[in-house]
Amino acid sequence: MAKIKTVKDVNLAGKRVFVRVDYNVPFDEKGNVSDDTRIAASLPTLRYLIEQGAKVILASHLGRPKGQVNPKYSLKPVVPVLSNLLGKPVAFAEDCVGPKAEEAVAAMKDGDVLLLENVRFHPEEEKNDPAFAAQMAKLADAFVNDAFGSAHRAHASTAGVAKDLPIRVAGFLIEKELKFLGEATANPQRPFVAILGGAKVSDKIMVIDSLLDKCDALIVGGAMAYTFFLAQGKPTGSSLTEPDKVDLAKKALAKAQEKGVQLLLPVDNVITDKVDFANAQVGEVKDAEVIPEGWQGVDIGPKSIALFSEEIAKAKTVLWNGPMGIFEIKACSKGTFSIAEAVAKNKDAISIIGGGDSVKAIKKSGYADQVSFISTGGGASLEFLEGKELPGVAVLQTV
Ligand code: 3PG
Repeated sequence: MAKIKTVKDVNLAGKRVFVRVDYNVPFDEKGNVSDDTRIAASLPTLRYLIEQGAKVILASHLGRPKGQVNPKYSLKPVVPVLSNLLGKPVAFAEDCVGPKAEEAVAAMKDGDVLLLENVRFHPEEEKNDPAFAAQMAKLADAFVNDAFGSAHRAHASTAGVAKDLPIRVAGFLIEKELKFLGEATANPQRPFVAILGGAKVSDKIMVIDSLLDKCDALIVGGAMAYTFFLAQGKPTGSSLTEPDKVDLAKKALAKAQEKGVQLLLPVDNVITDKVDFANAQVGEVKDAEVIPEGWQGVDIGPKSIALFSEEIAKAKTVLWNGPMGIFEIKACSKGTFSIAEAVAKNKDAISIIGGGDSVKAIKKSGYADQVSFISTGGGASLEFLEGKELPGVAVLQTV
């Protein structure tokens, strides 16, 4: 992949810079930002642009307001959080295009920061409407994309806007994401161990396929493993499976064998007899071969934890995406948290947490500060690991 230009490769002093960030952050019941990870992740780029004397115009989506103005999805509550983190005032424009945005931009001085209202309040955003993108482009002299979490969307603010601007570069967050998810897994230090979990094979099959070309060992946990059990003819009781994906699982098993990649599946599981967890007998452990009828696997068992942890300890590169069980429920969380511990304890390896639920899991486990990199992308990191070109990256200039 050609090297993408970053903010360091261009002169942005005195320029109006349209910076696409991903401030699609969670809120608590009181309407306050409950996790500022994505806001904090944008700070290195913003600080650099401020130091350069650029006029920093921030655009983001929040939630899925379906093209309607909806106060529930306003970005305004992000202003105090960002202002606090940056240690300087942040202005707010109640629209991302038109007179309100244009007046707010006209009032900016070099080094000022302005946050525009949710781009998805306009239906044209998700349609990547060229006229709407041009209205956004009119606000600026340059486009900086630092919204890795949204880079898999070909929308007006992530891709369309760039077409009308002469400078189109990446921010430091996108640069870092591409380095860890891209370079570190394309030319990994070996052994490279990938760990995939989560509920569905269908969500991850492309990633499995792509990783089997790169890794030395692939660990599969979570409910996804039970579709692999079906492929191997093992009983799965009433575990969550995708019978229509058994062929894909078989193909992955065959590819692993052909490529000499060790594909590790759970050898024991924590099982429960009811989905009603309040009354279920969660906590029983059964070997993989004997998930009884009427019971379902909800976490990996202790033998699997030991097996997987031993493999992780040998790695020089570890990539982890997806939990090993229903980690939100304490009785089914040990597998996921033990894997988090094993990943964190291997200090010789580059450890990459590939977005989505595994980010929640590593944070909840208390090991988040002991891994090399945590991706801010959910869908974006999966699509990138699948080997797909991300539209928000494709529009950027290359060196
Ligand atoms: C995310 O949270 O994964 C990104 O912000 C993208 O959001 P979307 O799935 O609504 O496009």
